[in-house]
Amino acid sequence: MSVHPLTPLSNPEIEAAVSVVKTQAGLDESAWFETITLDEPSKAELVAFSGGSPTPRRAYVCCYEPSSNRTLRGRVDLDGGTLLNWDHVPGAQARIVGDEFAMGDVLVKADPRFAEACALRGITDLDTVLVETWGAGHFGIPEEDGERLAFCHCWVINDAGDNRYGRPIANLHPIVDLRRRVVVRIEDYGVVDLPPDTAAIRPTENLRTDIKPLEIIQRDGPSFEVDGYAVKWQNWNIRVGYNYREGLVLHEIGYEDGGRVRPIMHRASMAEMVVPYGDPSPGNFRRNAFDTGEYGIGGALDSLKLGCDCLGHIHYFDVCSHDWHGVPQVIENAICMHEEDFGLLWKHTDVQTGKMRAVRSRRLVISAIATIGNYVYGFYWYFYQDGTIGVEIKATGIPFPSAIALNETSEYGTIIAPGIESHVHQHAFSFRFDMSVDGPNNSVAEVEFEAMPVGPSNPHGNGIRTVDRTLEREQDAAREMNMASARYWKVFNPNQTNAYGASTAYKLAPGANALPLLDPSAPVAKRGGFMFKHFWATAFAENELYPSGWFPNQDAGTDGLPVWIEQNRSIKNTDVVAWYTLNFHHLPRPEDWPVQPVVYANFHWMPEGFFDQNPSLDVPPNDQVNG
Ligand code: NI
Repeated sequence: MSVHPLTPLSNPEIEAAVSVVKTQAGLDESAWFETITLDEPSKAELVAFSGGSPTPRRAYVCCYEPSSNRTLRGRVDLDGGTLLNWDHVPGAQARIVGDEFAMGDVLVKADPRFAEACALRGITDLDTVLVETWGAGHFGIPEEDGERLAFCHCWVINDAGDNRYGRPIANLHPIVDLRRRVVVRIEDYGVVDLPPDTAAIRPTENLRTDIKPLEIIQRDGPSFEVDGYAVKWQNWNIRVGYNYREGLVLHEIGYEDGGRVRPIMHRASMAEMVVPYGDPSPGNFRRNAFDTGEYGIGGALDSLKLGCDCLGHIHYFDVCSHDWHGVPQVIENAICMHEEDFGLLWKHTDVQTGKMRAVRSRRLVISAIATIGNYVYGFYWYFYQDGTIGVEIKATGIPFPSAIALNETSEYGTIIAPGIESHVHQHAFSFRFDMSVDGPNNSVAEVEFEAMPVGPSNPHGNGIRTVDRTLEREQDAAREMNMASARYWKVFNPNQTNAYGASTAYKLAPGANALPLLDPSAPVAKRGGFMFKHFWATAFAENELYPSGWFPNQDAGTDGLPVWIEQNRSIKNTDVVAWYTLNFHHLPRPEDWPVQPVVYANFHWMPEGFFDQNPSLDVPPNDQVNG
């Protein structure tokens, strides 16, 4: 049987793609591999596959060639062993890959100017220093244009050896040319003493002794079925996917209802994120991280540990990543799937008879965790028995620390430990949902509530109406939340109705959110324009996958959502993509040091008239389930 066309690339497929590019793309020996990942089949190809036609396996490959300072990309036909296309992308800088991080650390430590700057700070053993190469961004500085630059932050690894970010070196920022492999200059804005404390994060003494075992036992196994990457659970049908950039991707999400699977989303992912920091000082204004587009979430996924990251009966999916030579690397247990008890699903007690039914909620959790330098992001997708889909970010790890003199106060952040400040920053995530509510053609509406004025038809002033407005074009659909009108958005199928004549729909129910605190002229605001609207809807286009474009590294903001919607395409009864921006501000607290308790940020998609009644009425009470 042929492999499903949405199955992530295997190690042999990565090797085959590398071999084709090395022999057919005409690159020289300096070239390295930014991305080797599945080139996903088109919707037409998927339809053909479901009709029994074989679908070609293809790889998307992107390379960087330092000798010519070119980023090139194309697609490989894995069955035929040929290059289908191969193009130079003018002006684009490939992502900064893990091997470049390592290279930057070595280059900087070998530079005598850096050793001198460290000596001024009393640091003589450079083996204890961590140098991190961050993308330099785009600030309109002419001599930086077209160069492949990284801006470095430096730390001394703490005495306990368990916190590489425990002792920040303030004001010391090497600039590295990653193409020529040289240190361009060392920016030094003055010596600040190293923080005095060790900031250990894995203490072994004085641990709590009053915590008893809590084990999740599923004596008959889990309630899900897995066939390769296809998952069935409680009427849900989901296909798990992966790529090097976004990490966890979900495909073909549908709900079985009346004997058939009703599609809801064709593809869902966290497509981009950026973390702009609020310290405008010369050493820190560049600090913002597009973790997806500048570095890649998929290559940074953790190998998860049963009993630590995940509790219960877990099904793990391994994924295949690669290094910059194109050598495949399996990340074992990269994607975790399990069931969780989630409290009450619904309950009713008849007061007269005392008869009661309470049904417990079970949810399917599909998740992955990425460690990106100091920070850790968990990406959690929840499927509930009532048709709700939940999306949650869990942010943990070490808040980015900077050293500050012991007698100073923090202007743009908080003192979180002796001699350590951590600056206010924002986390902005852009989720992409290629929608397919009951079929390929959908429309989008904004729903608002309004309190009616007192008048003859509303004499007591309690009247509330909802206004349901179809958003016709892309520019109508770039929207912000509004607490006064409890605004939300829904994607509906204008060609399908429920029992009451309404279009079947899924509603995007926002949770807590924020707006960016950036001047619109700020370079990072231009590169991350998606941040400024909570909701976007676009007409599907195969190339429009990433809301800051394919190549945000050092880009001026030339691609992405704000650019695409200039076309102002119709989003009515067509193939629609919905985008949700989840923003939160983070003013670090002392309680976030030396490692931050998880911060949760989430939102939901809920059926709204998709079903004719509560679809979880058939969930049995727990005493029947547990026997
Ligand atoms: Ni944060």
